This record gives sequence, C-alpha cells and structure tokens, in this order.
Amino acid sequence: MASTPAGGGCESPAPPPPIRPSLPSNADVEWDRFDPQAYVRHNYAVLRDDDREILRRTRDFFADAELADADCVDVGSGANLYPALSLLPFARRVDLCDWSTSNVNWLRTQVAGYDELWDPYWQVCAEHPTYAALTDPRGRLARVGRVLRASVFDVPRHAWDAGTMFFVACSISADRIEAEQAIGRFLDALRPHSPFAVAVMLGSHGYSVGPRTFPAVALQRAEVVAGITAGAYELNVHEVRLTPPLRDGYVGMLLATGRTRGRARRWSDG
Ligand SMILES: C[S@@+](CC[C@H](N)C(=O)[O-])C[C@H]1O[C@@H](n2cnc3c(N)ncnc32)[C@H](O)[C@@H]1O
Repeated sequence: MASTPAGGGCESPAPPPPIRPSLPSNADVEWDRFDPQAYVRHNYAVLRDDDREILRRTRDFFADAELADADCVDVGSGANLYPALSLLPFARRVDLCDWSTSNVNWLRTQVAGYDELWDPYWQVCAEHPTYAALTDPRGRLARVGRVLRASVFDVPRHAWDAGTMFFVACSISADRIEAEQAIGRFLDALRPHSPFAVAVMLGSHGYSVGPRTFPAVALQRAEVVAGITAGAYELNVHEVRLTPPLRDGYVGMLLATGRTRGRARRWSDG
C-alpha cells in the first residue's frame, strides 16, 4: 500500500473529474457494417400506416411545388427508396447519397431495377395523377438515379433543386450538435427556394439493424422545428404518432416540408 512521505507538507492533489463516457458521434460508428437487407426486412417489408401517411403527404407536397426537370437529392438514403420515388416525376436526376458502403452497394442494385417490395410504395404515389402519368417508375429510376457515397457533413452547397432526408438527422449519431448540423447541411445543399421534405424520429434512443445497434438523438419536436426554421420558410410540420410504436426506441415521427431560404441561418441566430 502506498504511503504519504512523512513531513512532506504537500496537500493531496484534487481528485480528477469523473470520466463520463462520450456519446458516439457519427465518425465513431462503423457504418459499413450497416446491413441493408436486415434494415429493409425490419422497416419496409410491409408498407405500414405511418410510412403510408408520410409518403402521401410528401407526394402531395412535391406535386404542388411546381417542380420540373429538377436536380434532386435524397440524403442518407440507406435502404429506403420511397423518398427517391416521391421525387421521380419531377427529376431529370435523382442523386441518392449515403456514407455507408454497404448501403451504397445496395442502392446501386436497387436503382438498376428495384425489388417488387417497393411496388406498394409506388402505388401510393400513383394515387396522385401526376405520379400515375409516369408509367414505368422502375425504368425511370434506372435512367435518372445516381448513387453517390457522400456524407451529409460534406455535401456541396446549393447543388440541387429539391431534396429529401428521411430518418437521418436523428439516427446518425448520439450528438445533438451533429443532428443540428445535418439539418443545416442538408438545407444548405439545396438552392434557395427549393422544396424539401425532412422526416425524423422523435424520442429515439437508438435502433437495431440485425445484431448491431446504432446511435440516435432523442429529438423533441420543438428543437427540430427550430432547426429547420433557421434555413426554411413556408414550413409545414406534421407529426405521426402510433400507439404502440412500431419501430424500436422512438415515440413518433415528424415530417416537415417547406422551401429553403436564400441563406441558411444557424439556430443560434434566432
Ligand atoms: C436510420 S438510417 C435512414 C435510412 C433511410 N433514409 C430511411 O428513410 O430509412 C440512417 C442512414 O444514414 C446513413 N448515414 C450515416 N452517417 C451518414 C453521413 N455522415 N452522411 C450520410 N449518410 C449517413 C446511414 O448509412 C443510414 O443509411
């Protein structure tokens, strides 16, 4: 046992501050181990009412947005095609961006010719005449879709005319600041006055994909709305709450649609 030397006259040093485990940031996560098949099986194999409602609202929003021949982007596409489908009638190009190489590979095969599983999602789109006029969505996506490995934190500014970002800001990190930055970067990637749709999970504490768990931020409605308002106008916010929740670790979903401001402001600008 160590002893204090006699007569040293020194005060014992202050105890070190307690070590708090840091929450995983986006860079801490092994995104290449994200299993797109398991994710699709769990989340999209059957079209659920919450996704149906979000898709209908997104469809109606873009159909009314006076959009044509547009450069479109879906950020953090992962293993979900329905945001890209909602952009299809208006797109001369749809860029599907994700940071995970496993998801990028999955997206490349799906863009080339998507699985029948996505047909019910297109059926929802085709309830609207603008979408129904597009008779070969599979072929159209293969022609205009382009898959990019890109991080939301590194997308170019003002590069697209319309965009979607679904279940990304809430679900790529446990760090609130990164959720805020993801929303800001996404809005800033669109040209001024571009229509967009953002969906987030509210109150998520993380999620499982196969045997792996991924971090999340338990976002509240008010902070999401504040974050989007900083870079947008004509904001319309709709919350979808299902009881009991159908996905792991969340209490509801929020869909926000609007148009981007000329210059994105930070939340702290008020
Ligand atoms: C919960 S999933 C959402 C996927 C899909 N958008 C959906 O609606 O289901 C989160 C996605 O964000 C992707 N991701 C993680 N970090 C990212 C980053 N820095 N930039 C872009 N995408 C990222 C993941 O690979 C994953 O596909």
